[in-house]
Amino acid sequence: MIILNSLDIKDEGDITGNFLIPISTKSKEFNYIMAIYKEALYQVINKLVEVRNNLNNKYGYDVINNITARIKTPKSIINKMKKKKYELTYKSLIDNINDIAGIRVICPLKNDIYDVLKVIKKIPDIKIIKAKDYLKKPKYSGYSAYHIIVETPVNINGELKPIKVEIQIRTMAMDFWATNEHKMKYKTNKKLSKLDSAKLTIYAKILNFLDDKIMKISKKQEFC
Ligand code: GTP
Ligand code: MG
Repeated sequence: MIILNSLDIKDEGDITGNFLIPISTKSKEFNYIMAIYKEALYQVINKLVEVRNNLNNKYGYDVINNITARIKTPKSIINKMKKKKYELTYKSLIDNINDIAGIRVICPLKNDIYDVLKVIKKIPDIKIIKAKDYLKKPKYSGYSAYHIIVETPVNINGELKPIKVEIQIRTMAMDFWATNEHKMKYKTNKKLSKLDSAKLTIYAKILNFLDDKIMKISKKQEFC
């Protein structure tokens, strides 16, 4: 789906609806598109903060511990597009890269994730267009989380256009694992050995086991 193809951004750059030109991350057009995603990000964050407040009031504890957000860096966008062999045009960027705007929601336990999801599904204006449940089926690496891609309407020159935002919902244990694994795998120049990768997969399974065990004790408490 082309989201911005009818966009008139004469004031910001030279493109008038032609998004098939090559990307330049230094261009006005690129910055303009990033500003649109930033707006989408703010809208969704604000709604999630409301969800957090409502759920915390309802249950009397922090169902959501933390919400973090980021706009993907230009370098990371280009790297991903090259890696996935996407055409380096604005149209391709908008069509294919779902995590330009990304939010991470951290919950204490697995059942909290499903509570948060239920509430997100009911938010007017937020439409879930894709969902991946890596809780039920973790990735080969051991990675676990619930991912959704949502669309939120952003006002662009007086017209509301759906803009995509990725939301990753994780438990604290999943986040602990994913943050460290990501740092070790991607952020250092040294490649992780096969043995260490295998160890990390096993540790993810152990954390998953603990997530379930602690959730069980916590659920028992609710009924006491
Ligand atoms: P991308 O197109 O690469 O974003 O992946 P995808 O469409 O296959 O989506 P997926 O939902 O599998 O993964 C998207 C994001 O989840 C990544 O950008 C990471 O933030 C996170 N993620 C996925 N797999 C792993 C993993 O093995 N380790 C860690 N640390 N994070 C992961
Ligand atoms: Mg990503």
